[in-house]
Amino acid sequence: MNSSFHLFPESASLAAGRYDTLMLSLTALLCVVALAVLVAIAGSVIRYHEHRPADRSHPPLANKPLEIAWTTIPLLVFLGIFAWAAHDYTLLAQETAGALPVTVVARQWMWKLEHANGKREINELHVPLGQAVQLTMTSQDVIHSFYVPAFRIKQDVVPGRYTTLRFTATHAGVYRLFCAEYCGTDHAAMQGRIVVMPPAEFARWLDADVGPETTAARGSALFRHYGCAACHDAGATVQAPRLDGLMGRTVTLQDGRTVTADAAYVRDAILTPHKDIVAGYAPIMPTYQGQIDEQDILAIIEYLRSMGAADASTSR
Ligand code: CUA
Repeated sequence: MNSSFHLFPESASLAAGRYDTLMLSLTALLCVVALAVLVAIAGSVIRYHEHRPADRSHPPLANKPLEIAWTTIPLLVFLGIFAWAAHDYTLLAQETAGALPVTVVARQWMWKLEHANGKREINELHVPLGQAVQLTMTSQDVIHSFYVPAFRIKQDVVPGRYTTLRFTATHAGVYRLFCAEYCGTDHAAMQGRIVVMPPAEFARWLDADVGPETTAARGSALFRHYGCAACHDAGATVQAPRLDGLMGRTVTLQDGRTVTADAAYVRDAILTPHKDIVAGYAPIMPTYQGQIDEQDILAIIEYLRSMGAADASTSR
């Protein structure tokens, strides 16, 4: 990071090149349009200056072909750009198999990040070069926004819901992370660093000084600590849905609706258990609102995910 002026930030992710191409093409196109309008204005100003002997006897009132052309051509061009941008956006959002999962909890005014092996970071995220990373993000208080200019990615981090971001870093180095949503007094100081390392170096870093347990193991302990196991474990006397193989499954609710059991569903089930009652069960689960923090919920979700997909026909 030197102090010299750059028109663009460094470009260090797969999306960055695509985004720059789109942005520059759009800018070039707008320049061409602006130039054409300018030339037409200047030309008319000169040609029809009051002291010039231009023919003013039959001013054209309409020119259908011209009007159709200047309506249709820009429409098609901009629809094309829309399709292009939409295509790039779907690439950005595309499910990347084997993406490295990282959870992000934002709060006033810091970023708390956790890798699947339980390694935690604050205001700093280490990622491997060339491997897709998937962030699952939420906020503990107000809306923040995870913004890495060098990767050309930005996503709001919203309390009460999970948002995701995927990126693949293409250059090793250190890049700045900003909060891009005004979130109070120290918003401007809510910054961090993304450290992109060669895969082998990253693997060493990830395994060094790692905590005693993986996120899933911590989730398992929390599952017992908060008493979830008392009802949801096999052999529990209270009738509650079994949770192994839950993640990703379609769940049928009491009112006949079906939902996919994703992270957001599990979070809702913990905090507002009476909202979506699973078909065949009584609404007896207490709410954990205000008793469990976001990082613990994410750990429990990781634990449920680690239990894998069970036989889809059992325990709806
Ligand atoms: Cu967090 Cu601005």
